Amino acid sequence: MGQVINGIPTGMAESLDLPKTTDRSLIYDALHPQLKALLEGETDWIANLANVVAALKEAFGFFWVGFYRVKDGALVLGPFQGPVACTRIAFDRGVCGHAYRKGSTVVVPDVDKFPGHIACSSASKSEIVVPVRDHSGAIIAVLDVDSDILDDFSEVDRNGLEKIVDLLKGDAS
Ligand code: SME
Repeated sequence: MGQVINGIPTGMAESLDLPKTTDRSLIYDALHPQLKALLEGETDWIANLANVVAALKEAFGFFWVGFYRVKDGALVLGPFQGPVACTRIAFDRGVCGHAYRKGSTVVVPDVDKFPGHIACSSASKSEIVVPVRDHSGAIIAVLDVDSDILDDFSEVDRNGLEKIVDLLKGDAS
């Protein structure tokens, strides 16, 4: 914590301390307070989205992690890690649009069995999409996590990701 570069405090060390385990609940437990500290004190929405996707990629090695922001009447690609992806998703399309319309997390164990799934990559096998809300409760983005393993997401991921997304409440400026 408290690194100073060129006289400017950086806020905290830019590295994560993660347990060496495959138990995702332990990893989410370790990650949450570190992300909270990383996001606190930074008001730039894009910077915070970028650090969340980087942290999730580093912690879990997910195939694709990224945000789609509510913008111009659609879901528009934001910070992400993984292969290049489609840039705009209509509210009535894909798992992302479904989660947006439903207003709650959607877990898809097998994307081939989800009518309307948008296949940005054929390697993607399962998916979880979590809406991001601002302080007024309006959905301002969705977090999309894709796995190249079938049925890769459980209640542990739903809880862990929903808690992380809660840290992002604030101005989407
Ligand atoms: N599969 C998503 C589209 C986004 S990509 O997976 C990155 C969907 O069906 O909404």
